[in-house]
Amino acid sequence: MANTPASVEDVAGGLQSVGYLPGESTALVSYLATKLGKPVLVEGPAGVGKTELAKALAKYLQRRLVRLQCYEGLDEAKALYEWNYRKQLLRIQAEAEGTGWQAVQDDIFGEEFLLARPLMTAIAAAEPVVLLIDEIDKTDQEFEAMLLELLSDFQISVPELGRIEARTRPVAVLTSNNSRELTEALKRRCLYLWLDYPDLEHELQIVRLHAPELDETVARKLTEVVHQVRELDLKKPPSIAESIDWARTLLLLGATDIDHDTFIETMSVIVKHRTDLDTVAARVGVALQQADAAA
Ligand SMILES: Nc1ncnc2c1ncn2[C@@H]1O[C@H](COP(=O)(O)OP(=O)(O)OP(=O)(O)O)[C@@H](O)[C@H]1O
Ligand SMILES: [Mg+2]
Repeated sequence: MANTPASVEDVAGGLQSVGYLPGESTALVSYLATKLGKPVLVEGPAGVGKTELAKALAKYLQRRLVRLQCYEGLDEAKALYEWNYRKQLLRIQAEAEGTGWQAVQDDIFGEEFLLARPLMTAIAAAEPVVLLIDEIDKTDQEFEAMLLELLSDFQISVPELGRIEARTRPVAVLTSNNSRELTEALKRRCLYLWLDYPDLEHELQIVRLHAPELDETVARKLTEVVHQVRELDLKKPPSIAESIDWARTLLLLGATDIDHDTFIETMSVIVKHRTDLDTVAARVGVALQQADAAA
């Protein structure tokens, strides 16, 4: 049986129970999405849990997750539906000689000959799903325009068939890394959630959740160091994903403290640009060395 949350706290608890620790606004917006039936646009830097939120919602709501991964050049045939040409061809061949063109045409443009792609799958599903439209900013504006019809009316127009109405309404989550500004029209139809790097305590909880065996003092120091690294002017600041990777790395290496040497040895898990490595080694590495010396 699918879950229907009764309050924001419900959603917060539900997401936690499936391993996602939501901030306040995340829980609120997720709750509203399930109640108002509006899509959620989640924006924020890489690795802060945008995609994971949709996955966690699906788990918690006990709905199937239908995912559309966006990329440059994504078109309707890959996102909405395609005609199954091979099947149509077979049908044409199988039609008795002498069948009129009209009869054949009526025949081969039926739903039976459609190949549903994620967007159509999502609204045609008998049970409501969670629809993840991941990295929408990678597509072009024409694609966005097509999405608008779907997101506002929950229907798809197939020229040969007419309108296909949604059987069920998905909870839709759109994510964006902000690589281009999305249109106002799209934003207007969505609830908006800005996901940023979490504060220290929140991130510590997330790290502990993903690497529970890591000693708490090490986990805390890790989180503090990551926060220091984020303060620097880097090409690519470390995300939650990197904090988690680092925690697992330290666990594997059996580290009991993050001293200067451990840091230098493992910092490439959280910093992934040549120039960033130099900056971080100089600033954070040196600070750790001084702390080691003082201890
Ligand atoms: N609030 C959270 N609770 C639990 N785990 C989290 C949370 N936020 C992020 N994570 C973890 O961080 C990792 C990265 O999350 P995710 O892949 O969703 O990032 P993203 O924002 O979609 O990044 P990108 O923009 O690169 O696609 C995942 O392993 C996820 O489990
Ligand atoms: Mg993602």
